Amino acid sequence: MNAEPPEHIPVLLQEVLQLVVTNIKGTYFDGTLGDGGYTKALLNKLDPEGRVVASDWDSRAVAFAEQWAPGYEARLSVNHNNFCNIGDILSSYAIDAVDGIVLDLGLSSRQIQDASRGFSYRADGPLDMRMDCRLSGTASDILNKAAEYELKRIFFHFGEERRSASLAGIIVRERQHRPLKTTLDLVSLMKKKWRPKYYTKSASRIFQALRIAVNRELNNLERFLDICWSSLLTSRRIAVISYHSLEDRIVKTAFRRHENPCICPKDIPFCLCKRVPDAKIITRRPIRPSGEEIAHNPRARSARLRVAEKI
Ligand SMILES: C[S@@+](CC[C@H](N)C(=O)[O-])C[C@H]1O[C@@H](n2cnc3c(N)ncnc32)[C@H](O)[C@@H]1O
Repeated sequence: MNAEPPEHIPVLLQEVLQLVVTNIKGTYFDGTLGDGGYTKALLNKLDPEGRVVASDWDSRAVAFAEQWAPGYEARLSVNHNNFCNIGDILSSYAIDAVDGIVLDLGLSSRQIQDASRGFSYRADGPLDMRMDCRLSGTASDILNKAAEYELKRIFFHFGEERRSASLAGIIVRERQHRPLKTTLDLVSLMKKKWRPKYYTKSASRIFQALRIAVNRELNNLERFLDICWSSLLTSRRIAVISYHSLEDRIVKTAFRRHENPCICPKDIPFCLCKRVPDAKIITRRPIRPSGEEIAHNPRARSARLRVAEKI
């Protein structure tokens, strides 16, 4: 019998609700539906005329929502889509712009626990890691086909792993004998070559790096933060929770660029580019979970919440 995966505990939920909900009769976009933690909390906080359009790239999150979404009737619309397509998603419900946007990046506990997805180094399964199974390349494809320098770049850049070069070399030598197909293939290789004290942290970094590469997660986030503003009403807010320093930097930089879009050289006394700000940063520093929240939900450990308002 399959055990039910542990419930996904939404991270920084009260902080998000408090900062993003500025109109309790409004319509909100949850671009990372997951198990629906944010979507349900939004719907419960809003007045009966308040509405949520929720989207997830993973068809299984959408299928799971079919079990609980009917309880919210017409107040909730669920969509299987990449959040980068926010404009198309909203226009399919005849909505031009919403009263708030939330993105809670990364994976849900359900995805991590499902060995058949290949996201976890703790369980044996295919080296897949695609959030959307319509994507063409899996983690196994990358490991078996990418050039050594490309593997090193992925491990170093996305995983911040110091032993990236050595692992890339080991993988390239190994795959000449047999392709890496399962998480256990990759884990066994790391265990064989690395001392146990390095193994656990490095395995988690390498799996994270591969997942980011397979799903082009940083590109998705950058693209979304370029285009989302036209889908947000004026004086309304966007909240992004990230779990990786590169993601957080992308959010911080995008918010700053929209708050101060001037591209004139610093040494000229006045602005020539005439670019006009379209956002105001609400969280000068990222909001981090309290010790109490981390004790209750260790997955919240690396979370950082940033919020900006469209002006
Ligand atoms: C951390 S979970 C969200 C959990 C949710 N906030 C909750 O409380 O249940 C992140 C979700 O974002 C989805 N996701 C990641 N990248 C996405 C993208 N580019 N477009 C849409 N969904 C994405 C994942 O499939 C996953 O279900």
